[in-house]
Amino acid sequence: MKLEGARVLVTGGGSGIGRHLVERLLADGAEIAVLELDAARCAELADAAGGKVRAVSCDVSDAAAVDGALQNLFDTGFEPDVLVNNAGVIHSEPLVNLLSRGDKVHSREAWRRVIATDLDSVFFVTSRVVERMLAKRIKGVVISISSIAAGGNAGQSAYAAAKAGVNALTCTWAKELGAMGLRFVAIAPGFFDTPSTRAALSEAVLTRLQQQIPLRRLGELESLYLAVRHAIENDYLTGTVLEVDGGLVL
Ligand SMILES: NC(=O)c1ccc[n+]([C@@H]2O[C@H](COP(=O)([O-])OP(=O)(O)OC[C@H]3O[C@@H](n4cnc5c(N)ncnc54)[C@H](O)[C@@H]3O)[C@@H](O)[C@H]2O)c1
Repeated sequence: MKLEGARVLVTGGGSGIGRHLVERLLADGAEIAVLELDAARCAELADAAGGKVRAVSCDVSDAAAVDGALQNLFDTGFEPDVLVNNAGVIHSEPLVNLLSRGDKVHSREAWRRVIATDLDSVFFVTSRVVERMLAKRIKGVVISISSIAAGGNAGQSAYAAAKAGVNALTCTWAKELGAMGLRFVAIAPGFFDTPSTRAALSEAVLTRLQQQIPLRRLGELESLYLAVRHAIENDYLTGTVLEVDGGLVL
């Protein structure tokens, strides 16, 4: 698919990876809409882009909110050619914390929140967008931001399970909908320098981590943009997980 003129819907485009993708896609000639939880980030994004980005405040883990926001976008003429499922939260917690004085077991509330934000959202948004692409005969591309944690990462039960689910959905939908001309690609970043990485990991852990990465540094957001552009432009790419991780294997 040609990127210039493509209509791209990005979830969680208000910060970090999503924000970088929005800015770069826009610079390369795509038309952008964003579904973002944080209303202040939506307003700031729309402002910064001089009104060129349609930023809609929406919790993508809430099926009814997703249905409403998408219907509104469709009704007002935004027909996505590309969906980037990017919204997500990173969460680290052991399955059983022997040092805890209270309940030692992984918080059930945190489990639900992470699965809802990182996996349910991909199902809710993709199903409605694909329904629309099929109705409009758009041979679209769905790109989902996964993580190398999907292969299993100590201390990240919920996050690893959610991202493994995202990879499974990508392969499932590629098989189910390939005959209709739709493509599905997951991109699995290693560790990138974003607010969520800095919130999840201490400076000491980050330093140790960088020594384990073969390229000896955190990723730069531009390499994720290059992967997204490749997924959009390469018409024979589907049902795969592109790992962008500086060679790190967890
Ligand atoms: N940062 C990394 O190193 C890294 C590594 C691997 C995977 N990822 C994945 O990349 C994606 C983006 O991560 P990031 O580091 O840019 O995070 P971030 O916290 O900087 O940005 C995430 C954005 O998503 C929004 N968001 C969160 N929950 C939402 C919801 N329910 N509805 C709508 N919007 C919501 C947030 O408000 C925020 O603007 C996530 O899926 C994350 O799991 C990040």
